[in-house]
Amino acid sequence: MNCCHCQAIETRFNQKVAAEKLKQYRQQGPEKTTRLLLEALKMEGVVGLTLLDIGGGIGAIQHELLKAGLSSATGVEASSAYLSASADEAGRQGHADRLSHYHGNFTDLAATLPTTEIVTLDRVICCYHDMPALVELSAARASKLYGLVYPRDTRWVKLGFALENLLFWLRRNPFRLYIHPTAAVEAIVRTHGLKRRFYQTAGVWQVVVYGR
Ligand SMILES: C[S@@+](CC[C@H](N)C(=O)[O-])C[C@H]1O[C@@H](n2cnc3c(N)ncnc32)[C@H](O)[C@@H]1O
Repeated sequence: MNCCHCQAIETRFNQKVAAEKLKQYRQQGPEKTTRLLLEALKMEGVVGLTLLDIGGGIGAIQHELLKAGLSSATGVEASSAYLSASADEAGRQGHADRLSHYHGNFTDLAATLPTTEIVTLDRVICCYHDMPALVELSAARASKLYGLVYPRDTRWVKLGFALENLLFWLRRNPFRLYIHPTAAVEAIVRTHGLKRRFYQTAGVWQVVVYGR
């Protein structure tokens, strides 16, 4: 991750945002698209499996799947505020001993991480400029299931994201959103022998689970 992107992530996903997201999760549970992804993964069966959750934020996927019977989970997160929120919540829910965290850019850390049975990226692809590296390196680490939530590449979604980027620019916030072509994401995933098992759209998002 270049320095600009590092800083942009820490600014966008800061302690205030992390505290709000954690409060929301404690009061209402996971957000809608995260719930869809969780349900699709549970339908495939998660008991006894291992998880790598990339850009997991406050760790909703980690906590919910650990409660559902994962043997262990690893979170890789570029925001230090999100990472510490996830660790706090793991302690509160009593599964801190089954959850490990790494702080940094997944594409830099990937070579040091073990292969896991499940890999998830929930609304992460849209926060990173180098989609091919992110998808290539993450799909390679999923031995059973690969779950994604990322924006649909329709004209109106592109327009909405362009307006959001304009607001970031006007506020001098260096963070930017990216819409990567669905066909390009799918093509990379397919080269890893992963096939679609679940697909659903929800507003701007598409939720996909692939399996081997
Ligand atoms: C929109 S948030 C989504 C958080 C959570 N998955 C959710 O759906 O609530 C995107 C997350 O991806 C993380 N992220 C973006 N690029 C990353 C990278 N290259 N490596 C690790 N984390 C990354 C950000 O720090 C942020 O926590």
